[in-house]
Amino acid sequence: MIRLEAVAKHYRQEERLVTALAPTTLTIESGEFVAVVGPSGSGKSTMLTLLGGMLAPTEGRVWFDDESLYDLKVAERAKVRRLKMGFVFQTFNLVPYLTAQENVEVPLLLRGEPKAVQRARARELLSLVGLEDRASHKPTQLSTGQQQRVALARTLVNDPRVIFADEPTGNLDPDTRNHVLSFFEEFHRAGKTIVMVTHEIQAASRATRLLRMADGVLRDVPHDEASAPHSEPRRLAS
Ligand SMILES: Nc1ncnc2c1ncn2[C@@H]1O[C@H](COP(=O)(O)OP(=O)(O)OP(=O)(O)O)[C@@H](O)[C@H]1O
Ligand SMILES: [Mg+2]
Repeated sequence: MIRLEAVAKHYRQEERLVTALAPTTLTIESGEFVAVVGPSGSGKSTMLTLLGGMLAPTEGRVWFDDESLYDLKVAERAKVRRLKMGFVFQTFNLVPYLTAQENVEVPLLLRGEPKAVQRARARELLSLVGLEDRASHKPTQLSTGQQQRVALARTLVNDPRVIFADEPTGNLDPDTRNHVLSFFEEFHRAGKTIVMVTHEIQAASRATRLLRMADGVLRDVPHDEASAPHSEPRRLAS
């Protein structure tokens, strides 16, 4: 269970205060597949990083099971993240000087797994995403879709209970996009919790719950409303 309890996030931008997330209370039950849609700048990534223990809220508490994430010590919070959460970012955050295989091994290395286990698990995950023949390629030697799949393999190698994904299908061709979305559906069937930010209605329609973010305000929407036109992205201080 993940819960935002009266959580708000304000950024100070010179003289102005930007409200990226208005006070929000929200519960995501274990096993839910949640899509978050909304215009650029509406606060989606902010919400995801708050949930993922990467950004302290200005107000309120973020609960992960029975732990208040930001009341934990930094090292304890990092441990929760490392053991229970997986992230797929808007940018893939692959380490440029490591091969695909080594990038996937990183989370296992951080967990102190033996080298042989790292190798075998990483190989398994790379073949799951169809990249067994690209294991020794560096990120620059891979296409965008292939990099995205390496990032996905790296996320999954830890067998996280919860996956936070920020635009996991952005910049992918239709085949690769479907491939990636099928993975998410598979994890959902395996009982994992997924929170996925997306601009794509097609991706959002694969989720079981839809949230719409507009100007820092989050609300549940029925699926058939998802195709309603978005409002204009809001402007920052000029
Ligand atoms: N570090 C920061 N300092 C100041 N303002 C910020 C900061 N990060 C985000 N913002 C502002 O907060 C608002 C929400 O940003 P956020 O990145 O959460 O939007 P988003 O919905 O993920 O957008 P996109 O779809 O373009 O990724 C925006 O107006 C943004 O300019
Ligand atoms: Mg974003």
